[in-house]
Amino acid sequence: MPPPSAPKGTHDLLPDASAAWRWLHGVHAEVTELHGYRLVDTPMFEHTELFERGVGTGTDVVDKEMYTFTDRGGRSLTLRPEGTVGVLRAVLEHRLTEEVRPLRAHYAGPMFRADRPQKGRYRQFHQVGVEAIGERAPALDVEVVEMGRRFLDALGITGVGLQLNTLGDLDDRLRYREALLGYYRPLVDRLCDDCRRRLEINPLRVLDCKRDQGLSVEAPLITDSLSEASTAYFAAVQEGLVAARVPFSLNPRLVRGLDYYAHTAFEYWHSSLQGAQNSLGGGGRYDGLAEALGFPATPGIGYAFGVERLLLIAGEQGTAPAAEPACDAVVCSIDPAQAPAAAEVARLLRAAGVRTVLDASDRKIDRKLRTANRLGARVCVIVGEEEAREGAATVKDLGRRTEERHAAERVVDAVHGALRGNAA
Ligand code: HAM
Repeated sequence: MPPPSAPKGTHDLLPDASAAWRWLHGVHAEVTELHGYRLVDTPMFEHTELFERGVGTGTDVVDKEMYTFTDRGGRSLTLRPEGTVGVLRAVLEHRLTEEVRPLRAHYAGPMFRADRPQKGRYRQFHQVGVEAIGERAPALDVEVVEMGRRFLDALGITGVGLQLNTLGDLDDRLRYREALLGYYRPLVDRLCDDCRRRLEINPLRVLDCKRDQGLSVEAPLITDSLSEASTAYFAAVQEGLVAARVPFSLNPRLVRGLDYYAHTAFEYWHSSLQGAQNSLGGGGRYDGLAEALGFPATPGIGYAFGVERLLLIAGEQGTAPAAEPACDAVVCSIDPAQAPAAAEVARLLRAAGVRTVLDASDRKIDRKLRTANRLGARVCVIVGEEEAREGAATVKDLGRRTEERHAAERVVDAVHGALRGNAA
C-alpha cells in the first residue's frame, strides 16, 4: 500500500507558509475591528436543512458540492460550504439583534465544497468574512463593500476590480423570473442538462452557468424588472461608494452562486485568477434569508474572501511576509553530560523573551550548528564541558561569526546584544 497522502482538493499549511497565513488573518481582524466588528466562530457542521433552505436547492453548492453525512443519532449533517447561514443562525438563535442592530461580526475558518479541484479551487478552503445583521440601509452596504476594499488595500493587493449589481427584492425577482422564463423557454433544447432541469426551479441559475454563457448574452437584465424603491436603493449605494472613493463597475449579469441574495451583490475580481476562479471574494445583502431559515425577518449583508486565493495573489505580488525563522537562538550542549546545564540556559533565555530551541541531542556540534542555521537562528549558545564546569556559556553570533564566553548571569544580556547587533 502506498504511504498516505492528503485527500484530493485539500492542502496542508506548513511552517514556512504560516507567517503569511497569520498575517492575512491578523490584517482581516484588524481592519474589521477598526469598524466595530467582533469575532464569532460557529460549528464546521450544521443541520443539512440549514444549507438547503438557506443556500438553496437548485444551486450547485447544495445539489452537487455538499459533504453530507448521517451521524450516529440518524441526523443529517453537512460540513459548511460557506459561513453566512451559520453566522446568521447563531446571531438569531442567541437573539443578539434584540440588543444591538446591526450586529457586526467577523469570522474565519475552513469551508467545504466537493468541487473539481484546480488552481485556486479546493474542496477544503478557507474564508475570512463579515456579516452585519439587523439593518437595511444603503450606508451599511457601503460600509461592508468599502471595508472589503480596505482589507485588500491593507494586504497591498493591487489590480482588483469591484463588480456591482443589484438583485432587487422578492417582487422584483418574481418579475425577473417571468422575464427570464419567457426568454429561455424557447431555447430550452439548447440548454445544458443542468440548466434544463433548473430552469423552472430558478432561472437565475441559468444566467450563472458557464456552459450556457453564449445563450445568456441576450437575456433580459434585472435592471428592467426593478421597482422604483429598489432602483432608488441601488442608486443610494452607488452614491455612497462614489463618496467613499471606492471604484466599481456595474455588472447586470452578476447573480452570485448562492440563492439568498437580494438587492446589493458584489464580487472582487482579479485578472490573474483564471476564468470561474477569478473571484477573490464576494458578498451581498440577504434580506429574505432569516425568514427562509424559519426566523423572524431580519435583513443582513456581508462578504467572504477566499484565503488561498488572496495568498496566491499576495505571493505573486510580493506583499505577503516571507517565512519566519523558527527561533532567535539555539542552545547546544557538546555532549549529553552538559544537557542539564544547556537546558537551564534555554530556560533563562525563554524567560527573557528570546525564542529559543534547545538542542541537547547527542549529535556532533557541527551538525547542531548547521541545524541552527537552517532554523534561522542568529545566535548559538554552546555549553561544553569547560563551560558547564565554570557555570558559563559560549555565545556565538552566527551572523558576524564571532564568539565570546560569558558567565551564566551575563548570557541573556550577551544574547540580547548579539540579536540587536544582527538586527541593526
Ligand atoms: P462565495 O462567492 O461562494 O460567497 O465565496 C466567497 C469566496 O470564497 C470566493 O470569492 C472565493 O475566493 C472563495 N471560494 C469559494 N469556493 C472556493 C473553492 N472551492 N476553493 C477556494 N476558494 C473558494 C460566500 O461564500 C458567501 N457566504 C459570501 C457572503 C457573506 N455573502 C454574504 N455574506
